[in-house]
Amino acid sequence: MTISLLVLNGPNLNLLGTRQPQVYGSTTLQDVEALCRAAGDRLGVGIDFRQSNHEGTLIDWIHEAKGKHAGIVLNAGALTHTSIAIMDAIASVELPVAEVHLSNIHRREEFRHLSYVSKVALGMIAGFGPQGYVLGIEALASHLRAAG
Ligand code: DQA
Repeated sequence: MTISLLVLNGPNLNLLGTRQPQVYGSTTLQDVEALCRAAGDRLGVGIDFRQSNHEGTLIDWIHEAKGKHAGIVLNAGALTHTSIAIMDAIASVELPVAEVHLSNIHRREEFRHLSYVSKVALGMIAGFGPQGYVLGIEALASHLRAAG
């Protein structure tokens, strides 16, 4: 059976390309989606790519992922640093999560150093820009294949 991954993006990531380009670069979210789809095709992995500015919607999509997707690549944006509810949702569905950040959150403000997502993620990739999503997809695909 083909592996399918949910690639989930949180608040403000719809503005990629115009949002603080000195921090996040000029790549748009549409470009990121194209990169993810190309990686999926190369690896034989299905990609369901989504973005929402709403915490509850993200939580609903995490719940719905169970039974539908084998893992989640998650850039929760600023909710990374605040949302116990997203952390609990991930823990509840027990799906492997690759946490992704475009920027290196540990080189930035102190308040970005805490990640609730990291507490339940399989691993985290930060600071490699859009390529981080591709690395996250590759990491989950090999983790899932190794797990059989
Ligand atoms: C981000 C880092 C977060 O601190 C920030 O709030 C974002 C984007 C990143 O991809 O680097 O919205 O998750």
